[in-house]
Amino acid sequence: MTKMTDMAAFLARPHQRYKDSFIEGVEEYIREEQSINWHPDILATRFDEYLEVLRQAETEPLAGMVPASHFWLISANHRYIGDVDVRHRLNESLRRFGGHIGYKIRPAERRKGYGKLICRLGIEQARKRHIDDILITCDDDNIGSYKIIEANGGVLLDKIDNNRGVLTRRYWIYAEA
Ligand SMILES: CC(C)(COP(=O)(O)OP(=O)(O)OC[C@H]1O[C@@H](n2cnc3c(N)ncnc32)[C@H](O)[C@@H]1OP(=O)(O)O)[C@@H](O)C(=O)NCCC(=O)NCCS
Repeated sequence: MTKMTDMAAFLARPHQRYKDSFIEGVEEYIREEQSINWHPDILATRFDEYLEVLRQAETEPLAGMVPASHFWLISANHRYIGDVDVRHRLNESLRRFGGHIGYKIRPAERRKGYGKLICRLGIEQARKRHIDDILITCDDDNIGSYKIIEANGGVLLDKIDNNRGVLTRRYWIYAEA
């Protein structure tokens, strides 16, 4: 069955037109003590620079990073809902923690099905980049995230200790036969 969220939201490249709602989202992440890359005050004045950094992550990644495509989940009324990173390949570190796809949904928009949707759309983007078997990881106690991965066909590989105080679940989404 198609859910409301399927019809109402889409993936888009980060863009100036979503600036205000994106900054609101970052403020929500700060309130829940998530680590953020750029502070809202800096984003407010240097948003173009931030967009350029996201673009460069795809074409000219920093040393030690793999190329990654970054997308925002946008609502029908053009507001930022969450983001997803699609990493083009794995390195040793991502193989243990991070995997091919990482996502988050802004706190005000959680528990509406957007987590499942952003993961599905991220998988579609990975497939477009010819990534066959897709690795996704999450904390063992992140119920929302492992439900999302399992709903998207994730098969649990194992749970490993990354010295983070909680085990890391590693799931594969296998290429369709
Ligand atoms: C994890 C996260 C992406 C979930 O997003 P979401 O939009 O709330 O997810 P959904 O609405 O699609 O929910 C998926 C399922 O998880 C459940 N769920 C979501 N958050 C939950 C929570 N905190 N506790 C228990 N269950 C939860 C939902 O009820 C739903 O269950 P169902 O399949 O039985 O209906 C979001 O909480 C988030 O961004 N967290 C911080 C970043 C993060 O953890 N990212 C994942 C890293 S791997």
